[in-house]
Amino acid sequence: MGDIRVGMIGYKFMGKAHTQAYKNTNFYFNPKTPFQLKAICGRNEKNVKSAAHTYGWESYETDWQSVIDRDDIDLIDIGTPSNTHKDIAIKAANAGKHVLTEKPMALNVRDAKEMLKAVTDSGVQHMVSFTYRRVPAISLAKRIISEGRIGKVYHIRANYLQDWLADPQSPFAWRLDKNVAGSGAHGDLNAHIIDLTRYLVGEFDEVVGMSETFVKERPVEEDSTNGKNTNNNVSLRDVTVDDATLFLARLDNGALGSFEATRYATGRKNNEYIEINGSMGSIVFNFERMNELQFFSKEDEHHLQGYRNILVTEPESHEYMNAWWPPGHLIGYEHAFTHQASDLARAITQQQPVYPNFEDGLRCQQVLEAVDNSIKSRTWEKVEKTNF
Ligand SMILES: NC(=O)c1ccc[n+]([C@@H]2O[C@H](COP(=O)([O-])OP(=O)(O)OC[C@H]3O[C@@H](n4cnc5c(N)ncnc54)[C@H](O)[C@@H]3O)[C@@H](O)[C@H]2O)c1
Repeated sequence: MGDIRVGMIGYKFMGKAHTQAYKNTNFYFNPKTPFQLKAICGRNEKNVKSAAHTYGWESYETDWQSVIDRDDIDLIDIGTPSNTHKDIAIKAANAGKHVLTEKPMALNVRDAKEMLKAVTDSGVQHMVSFTYRRVPAISLAKRIISEGRIGKVYHIRANYLQDWLADPQSPFAWRLDKNVAGSGAHGDLNAHIIDLTRYLVGEFDEVVGMSETFVKERPVEEDSTNGKNTNNNVSLRDVTVDDATLFLARLDNGALGSFEATRYATGRKNNEYIEINGSMGSIVFNFERMNELQFFSKEDEHHLQGYRNILVTEPESHEYMNAWWPPGHLIGYEHAFTHQASDLARAITQQQPVYPNFEDGLRCQQVLEAVDNSIKSRTWEKVEKTNF
């Protein structure tokens, strides 16, 4: 098999993160089949041309269908807003291309099911970019829980807190348009902590939620001659998504969970926190301290019991760390994307499944939708579970 030739749709935040992940995978993980940056796509020719040059892509396209139509592309990477994921993923799968899509997988459960059917029917590799699974501290949490070291899980306490909308004058953006984003903090942030919970503990049974849109309309940044808003010429646009969504959950294994996602936690920037309490111990992870994992064990001698802080940087024993630096040399946000890309490269080479895949994306979407349903019905709602 030759190189994995990538066609990437979208060139901004995730486009940049995924580009460096492909390059770093080749550099640090030395995969059997390296990635080749074939084509990057965006709608604005000047901008995408500039991104192609800066990021080091061989070519660019201004229409995603043209990328899919090309014979020299093996993998389609979708780093665009949620309303585009379905069409791009289905067309890519039908054309026999592997698909990596950003999260949330789709606007809704119905679309996610169609996407899963397309990739399953065509037999291509499929993956959803729940990148936090590949933070080494989360890999260690998974190992600790799988080894039974915290015993039977009773509680999951998770939140994902940001504050970029706390200022009511923050301008309107695509993330605030339901037709484009599907939902607000819920699909953007809760999606991550739902996926982590499924990964670390198990499936959701039932949920009850609440949400709020604190600021109902926001200024639109006008493209005026000086490129700036003026106070006497500000148009406003309705915000059609949730600013914050909180929910409670009961998991299939009987554990109770509480979840909170907000863009209004003033002072919190990217505070993704998960605490899991079991009969024998607990683990705590906070992304703002992503190189660390806290672990409490009741098996420690009584007089020594207390949370220990594990620095998850040991090349010999912490997943992914042997590709990086000596112990104690910290890694950052972008490394999880590289770990994801390196696992995807291995899966494509070895023709083995890779996770989280579109089944995981659909399951996450089913939890998101059950919470939405419960907010409407103001009651507990069961989470639909497709049998795979
Ligand atoms: N995994 C993560 O941790 C993570 C983090 C941030 C964003 N995301 C997800 O990534 C996706 C993109 O978010 P982002 O922050 O990169 O957004 P962004 O606004 O920074 O970039 C979006 C890109 O999509 C392009 N685009 C939009 N519509 C297009 C179309 N029809 N055809 C071609 N290109 C189009 C834009 O030109 C832009 O390059 C979203 O689904 C978001 O939820 C995931």
